[in-house]
Amino acid sequence: MDTVESLRDELLGAVSAADGLDALDQVRITALGKKGRITEQMKGLGKLDPEARREAGQMLNALKDEVAAALDSRKSDLARGALDAKLASETLDVTLPSRHEARGRIHPITQTIDELTAIFTEMGFTVADGPNIESDYYNFEALNFPPDHPARQEHDTFYMAPNADGERKVLRTHTSPVQVRHMEKNTPPIRIIIPGRTYRSDHDATHSPMFHQVEGLVIDKKTHMGHLKGCLTDFCRAFFKVDDLPLRFRPSYFPFTEPSAEVDIGCSRKGGGLTIGAGDDWLEILGSGMVHPNVLRHAGIDPTEYQGFAFGMGIERIAMLKYGIPDLRPFYDTDVRWMRHYGFVPIAQPTVAGGL
Ligand code: PHE
Repeated sequence: MDTVESLRDELLGAVSAADGLDALDQVRITALGKKGRITEQMKGLGKLDPEARREAGQMLNALKDEVAAALDSRKSDLARGALDAKLASETLDVTLPSRHEARGRIHPITQTIDELTAIFTEMGFTVADGPNIESDYYNFEALNFPPDHPARQEHDTFYMAPNADGERKVLRTHTSPVQVRHMEKNTPPIRIIIPGRTYRSDHDATHSPMFHQVEGLVIDKKTHMGHLKGCLTDFCRAFFKVDDLPLRFRPSYFPFTEPSAEVDIGCSRKGGGLTIGAGDDWLEILGSGMVHPNVLRHAGIDPTEYQGFAFGMGIERIAMLKYGIPDLRPFYDTDVRWMRHYGFVPIAQPTVAGGL
């Protein structure tokens, strides 16, 4: 059967020549469609005598199966090829290195705030803030500073010119006024930190008229001095990256806390340098204490029901200690050489898990 042989060659040739799914479908119609070549041949079988019909019928059926199988296999080849081409055209090379040559730097103050925020938020604190220009009430009175108490003078306050009502606002001398503002608007449990700018009329190698503090405030029903110690110990050890850093809680006085404690961390000055960790010396780094009942009362919180602790820390000071920055003044000089030396690469975001 010459015709079946040549039809076979022709159709299989067309199947392998089809270069796309549409072209292949055309081949299928030409071969096996209602008016297709094989179908037409099948229709012609009726004209043959029985013997020849059986033989031709078998050959045509075999050809039909062979062509159908060839169509299927070519179809899956073409589909795979089309998918490969699509994937190749959509490929994105994620192995390119990030660009380290960015020239901008993160200021050590910003970096330190980011670091301490990472630590305290991990402990469950949220960040709060308040105005830099304060009333005498929030900066002093609500914090239990009596009107003519010498502690007011210790703060070297910047006073603004009197306003129309004769009131003299102040540039806040600490972040503590935000304790009161926050407690007025929120009900305990409270767990906040307040990083921000503070101002005192003082200027020398270790004091700047504008500097930064971070305040902490925790208020709940049973919060006690043990929580204060644990919280600050964990913070200092995480921040300075010294797991066994010793802390010393030294009795002190603040009008707004009772009892009050200043906190020192261990250090060593052997060999002229300064190393933070167990040693023969101590460095004062923060003030703290149990929030005074009068402060809770001023903020509308019942001191017979709630109690808690607060702390305040100088950000420049802990940044200088952690990063070995010897002088305070260049912090505000916007000197690009200093920033290149002490600044931080922007993509190195501090996290507790990723390193501080
Ligand atoms: N506000 C105090 C200061 O500026 C620090 C402090 C805050 C102390 C909270 C105790 C509690 O020195």
